[in-house]
This record gives sequence, structure tokens and C-alpha cells, in this order.
Amino acid sequence: MFETHKAPAADKILRVMKVFADDPREGKIDLGVGVYRTPEGLTPVMTAVKAAERRLLEEQATKGYVGLAGDPAFHAALRQLTLGNSVAADRVAGLATPGGTGAVRQAFELLKVQNPDVTVHTSAPTWPNHEAILDTLNIRWQPYRYYDAATGGLDREGMLSDLAAVKRGDVVLLHGCCHNPTGTDLDLPDWQEIADTLSRTGAVPMVDLAYQGFGLGLEEDVAGLRLLAAAMPELLLTVSASKNFGLYRDRVGLLLVVTQTPAITLAVQGTLAWLNRQSYAFPPDHGARVVTDILTDPSLRADWTDELREMRNRVLAMREALAKALKLETQSDRFDYLLSQKGMFSRLPASEEQVEQLRRDHAVYMIGDGRINMAGLVAETVRPAASAIARVLG
Ligand code: LMR
Repeated sequence: MFETHKAPAADKILRVMKVFADDPREGKIDLGVGVYRTPEGLTPVMTAVKAAERRLLEEQATKGYVGLAGDPAFHAALRQLTLGNSVAADRVAGLATPGGTGAVRQAFELLKVQNPDVTVHTSAPTWPNHEAILDTLNIRWQPYRYYDAATGGLDREGMLSDLAAVKRGDVVLLHGCCHNPTGTDLDLPDWQEIADTLSRTGAVPMVDLAYQGFGLGLEEDVAGLRLLAAAMPELLLTVSASKNFGLYRDRVGLLLVVTQTPAITLAVQGTLAWLNRQSYAFPPDHGARVVTDILTDPSLRADWTDELREMRNRVLAMREALAKALKLETQSDRFDYLLSQKGMFSRLPASEEQVEQLRRDHAVYMIGDGRINMAGLVAETVRPAASAIARVLG
């Protein structure tokens, strides 16, 4: 049956991971996949995670099933971290999922159940897997203007004009913070304008939040999301704990769906549980429990917040060092825009050939669209990376 089988092309982010791993060159620099790294180049288990896991090992009395939608305490803890008090809890349905990607997938599945003709409007550009999952589900998607490559900032006018034309009942996918792949974020007035625009058109926002705590701070990074949630009758939120809890392989994600009334929320909650049942029955629980324990224990939470602040500061220090080194190498301010961007990512104005040349001639790895991960830099590699980028980008 598989004689003529052809595998789909690998995702461009995962492709870079593989080619980097296979490169035997000393001194190769990985600015590819979006994972945090220490100055030693490691992605360690966070201290609070280790402590919570130790406690779990000692105290957990059963590995029996949790509910199909996951543990309500996990929903509550992450709901509070993300939405705060912007929406009454009885208007929010929740679904634990394997990772943030699982939450995105189940969100799209829910949209398809609700309205097979829905169009999802995605920022240009967006995380490539958003579009890939939409294609897999045969859901129509359409990019709205977002990133202005000429300035490295937001194409505000273009975005608002595209969003004003979105049909009632269609969905607008936004990045909560640390936009992937550009690092170009919305400020509070932008979020307000989006809320006003979507309220006028009747479109529904979906916010993907994978990097809370890596931009300006845990609270600051969700101020826009909370503004939007408080203003809109409905909203979908997908949350990943991969990056800010360093739980990548444990697959900890959550889908939250804000509806207009507690009664509607109950109905949606039933559909969410059914979606998990059709996919893998029960969601993974270990990492979710670790997250819940950290967020509800004041001492673990303080420890986690401190470590996350250190991670954020390290990424910011690398961002600033790279911008400075590029200024020196190019004797120009054309890379100053890097300083206005947030989180791990920025996008270099590099063609696919230039990205390939950086890999081939300098062992500097980035995604084909020019996306770089600042967390892949350490003090010693900033200068060589900047020099290679300056040489290839001219
Ligand atoms: C990334 O964008 O690099 C990460 O979110 C990893 C992934 O799954 O693509």
C-alpha cells in the first residue's frame, strides 16, 4: 500500500534543526529553532520545574486518568497567568493539549466544527505551522498586512485596513507577544484599535501566546491580550508552556475559549472535551501538573519568575550586543530596528540565497526567511555572527 508513498516536505524550522545537527564544523552558530539557551548553549530544566517534579514524584498517589479536558486546576492557573481578571471565569472554556501546537490544532478543529466556511486571517508573516495546520484541515486562510520590512516595524495602516475588511464570524489570528518570526509587537494603542475594528466588523480574535515573559515581562506581555479579552464578546487563546517553563518535550498547552455566556461556555466545553477524545482521548498531565504547582506555590512561583527574568534579560543582552556589533561591522544604523523588537526573534532582510550562503560559508544557521533566534547567541559568537551577516548582506 505504501509503494508510491511520498512524505510531505519537512517544516522549514525543523529542516534547519536537522541540517545544523548534522554539520560537523566547530564554531557553528545556531540561530534557528526557537528554544532558549544559556550562555553555555544549553536548554536546562528550570529550578522550579525540578523542585515541582521532585515533589510530584514523592507525593503523587495515582496515575489514573484526569478528565478529557485536563485538570481544572491547570486551566485556572494558566487562565489567571494569561487573562488575569479581564474575563469572568465562567465565560471561559478550557482544554489541556499536548503543547501550544496541540492547542492551535484543537482551536482550528473547533472553528471547523462551528463553521466549515470560516476564513482565518493570519499576519504576514506568521509561524509557518499556523498555515500548515490550516491547510491540513482544509480551512481557508488569508494573510493581513503586518510587518513592514522597510522599517522593521508594524505596517499599522495596512493591518488596520485589512482587518476592517474581515467578514463577521471570520477569525483574526494574532500573536500575544514576541511575534514569531519578526519580533515586531503590537503596542497598547494598536491592541485597542484592533479591538475597536473587530468589534465593528464582528470578527473573532484568536491569540497565540507562546512566549509570555520573554518580551517586556510576565504582566506587560499580556496587557494587550487582556485589553482585547475585556473588550470582545468572544476570543480564542492558545497558550504554550514550552518556552517560559522550559517544558518543550513534556508538551504542555492550553486552549481557552471565551464565550458570551456561562451557558454557551458549558456547551463549548463539551465540544472541546469531545475534540480531545477524538484525537488522543486524555491530554498529557505530568507537565501540566508541574505548571500548576509552580503557579500556585508562592515560593516555586517566585523562583520561576526570577529565573524567567534572567532568561529574558539574557536574550535582550544578546539582542543589544548583536545590534551594536552590526552597527560596527556595517558602519551604518540599518540594523537598529532590531532594538525595537521583542522576544527571541527578529528577521534579517536576507534572501534565501543569502541565508544559504551564511550556512555554507560561515556556519551561521537561521530560518530561510531570515528569522534569527537571539537566544542562540553567546558573548563569544556575537562578533563572528555579525561579521558574517555584514559580509553576506553587504
Ligand atoms: C519555533 O518557532 O522555532 C518554535 O516554536 C519551534 C517550532 O515548533 O516551530
